[in-house]
Amino acid sequence: MKQIFTGITLALTLALTFTISALAGGWAIITLDELPGEVTAGEPLNIGFTVRQHGVTPLAGLTPTITAQLSGTKEVVRVSGKEEGEPGHYTATLTFPQSGEWTWSINAFITQTMPPLTVVTGSHVASEPFTTPVFAFPAILAGALGLAGVAAGLWFAKKNVRWAIALAAVGLVVGGVGFVSAADQPQVRNEAAVSVESSSSVDQVELGHRLFIAKGCVICHYHSDTYKDREIGVDIGPNLTDFAASPEDLRMWLNDPASVKPQTMMPTLKLKDAEIEALIAFINSD
Ligand code: HEC
Repeated sequence: MKQIFTGITLALTLALTFTISALAGGWAIITLDELPGEVTAGEPLNIGFTVRQHGVTPLAGLTPTITAQLSGTKEVVRVSGKEEGEPGHYTATLTFPQSGEWTWSINAFITQTMPPLTVVTGSHVASEPFTTPVFAFPAILAGALGLAGVAAGLWFAKKNVRWAIALAAVGLVVGGVGFVSAADQPQVRNEAAVSVESSSSVDQVELGHRLFIAKGCVICHYHSDTYKDREIGVDIGPNLTDFAASPEDLRMWLNDPASVKPQTMMPTLKLKDAEIEALIAFINSD
């Protein structure tokens, strides 16, 4: 009986401690500078991001950790970020040892899961490029014809035909050129084909979906397509699952919410025009 009480007291104390620290610490959003484009195994990937407490105040003095895991394996890459540039801005360099689908998250005051990355195999990591000799048939044919010419010329020469010497000489030249060029054919290099998911092949809606997560919208807004991707959600903004608005209004809003509604709690996230277009496509998709 006494043990049960001790257990309950311990559980209550722990719960209280967590609640207090959550209240004291508040929350933050992490905004990636940009979505990583093509990521190649073995090559460093630089990322930059800003941490804003309560979505607004840049949070300096953190030591962020970035953790990436190759899906379906225990392979993990962990690096720390450092402050760089404006207050609350951090950078980190990640190198993925292997190609595949990597899930990753940034821990800086909060943990924010980022959109998964498809890491491709670099051409230098791929199997050695192979070479295919060019089929040298025309040159070899010329060489053979030339030799035939020489032989014919010599045969006719024995019979004292006047043009025979000329024929033999021409044959010698044609045959020589033919064989020399056959031996000298260039070898064609075939780079091993690499399948690359370039950003252009990702459609706008999918790009907007990833940006919604990577820019931190996901922390303040519930959206049924992205809620599984988040560790925390404060949902101070409206649920955007079924939200739609005219592209013109959304463009103004996303560019600078305060210019539309001065008292808004939604921050200006310094989005690029192309990012805004993709986000609009995602928000207005069904
Ligand atoms: C710090 C929290 C926060 C973040 C981060 C945030 N929003 Fe908001 N958002 C809000 C709040 C709060 C509102 C409600 C507007 C108001 O009344 O201030 C809002 C409103 C909106 C609206 C509705 C505008 C309207 O016309 O009703 C859209 C669309 C929107 N946000 C999209 C986004 C997108 C896309 C991102 C990420 C690029 C984002 N928000 C990031 C807090 C946030």
